[in-house]
Amino acid sequence: MKVLICDSVAPETIHPMQAAGIEVDYRPDITAEQLLCDIAAYDGMVVRSRTKVSADVLDAATNLKIVVRGGVGLDNIDVAHAKAKGIEVRNTPKASSNSVAELALGYMLALARKIPQATTSMAAGEWKKKYLQGSEIGGKTLGLIGYGNIGGLLGKKALALGMSVIFCDVITPPDTGAAVQVSLDEVLTRSNFISLHVPKVPATTNMINAETLAKMKDGVYLINCARGGLVDEDALYDALTSGKVAGAALDVYLDEKTNPGNARLFGLKDNNGFNMVIGSPHIGASTVEGQGRVGGEVAEILIEYYHRNR
Ligand SMILES: NC(=O)c1ccc[n+]([C@@H]2O[C@H](COP(=O)([O-])OP(=O)(O)OC[C@H]3O[C@@H](n4cnc5c(N)ncnc54)[C@H](O)[C@@H]3O)[C@@H](O)[C@H]2O)c1
Repeated sequence: MKVLICDSVAPETIHPMQAAGIEVDYRPDITAEQLLCDIAAYDGMVVRSRTKVSADVLDAATNLKIVVRGGVGLDNIDVAHAKAKGIEVRNTPKASSNSVAELALGYMLALARKIPQATTSMAAGEWKKKYLQGSEIGGKTLGLIGYGNIGGLLGKKALALGMSVIFCDVITPPDTGAAVQVSLDEVLTRSNFISLHVPKVPATTNMINAETLAKMKDGVYLINCARGGLVDEDALYDALTSGKVAGAALDVYLDEKTNPGNARLFGLKDNNGFNMVIGSPHIGASTVEGQGRVGGEVAEILIEYYHRNR
């Protein structure tokens, strides 16, 4: 079996496959053109989020039997086309959940205590102590939109830190402990912090918009470590400008290629000259531990496939 790895992966991905007898080509910088030319030689393919597995790629992949996406979303793979061609599509849905949950938790504390803003100010040689009074997260209400792998882990961590946790979800998840399932409207109206953990599907696209923002408590903090496009960024800009939203933390953006980070949002300052939006370039899953788990799961899937089809 010959497998092409198209994106950067942890060593945990490659070594176990080779040890199991799978031939692995690691080409993390392969271009779209090279992929189209070379893919016919492979039985398996590993991608992260960079490589697009379009219908054209799948049509050119005359020997391909399995595509594994290291990570959660399958947005970069034409899954319907793969299925129609009998190509198995797999992912590693839980491997990076804790990394994302910890990032969202970090953002709640960073927003409440203005840690990034204080750092920027210190680096500028300032001592703005009297403008940097923050608030505690203990005793506050965290509203989670989506209580799956990531939302559920964040809920448990927040409960352990003394927060009240409410959430909305289209299913009733098992074992929610002290976290209470409510309607979306209740999450919007009751929460001091709102964190998004839903997939991007038609029902969730722009679900944080002018109308839903208007229902939130004044001074709410909003965190999006899920997907760009869940939040209407223009409506968020307006809500930050009006003071409805006190601060936002973003790891994902509507247009991550041509408008990375949404410069307009990151330019917004409060009355004390501090940034109202803090964020990162889609690093939710980027931890040593998370990447190691992703790599291990990718290898396990392909080794199992190899043994099943030998
Ligand atoms: N920032 C990153 O690097 C990063 C990394 C991994 C995952 N993610 C994203 O995080 C999000 C959550 O991932 P997960 O692993 O927890 O997914 P999951 O499938 O385990 O959980 C998602 C939950 O959302 C619920 N849901 C779906 N539609 C809903 C709706 N309209 N209203 C309320 N709830 C709804 C589902 O029932 C499910 O419980 C996804 O968008 C994923 O792509 C981001």
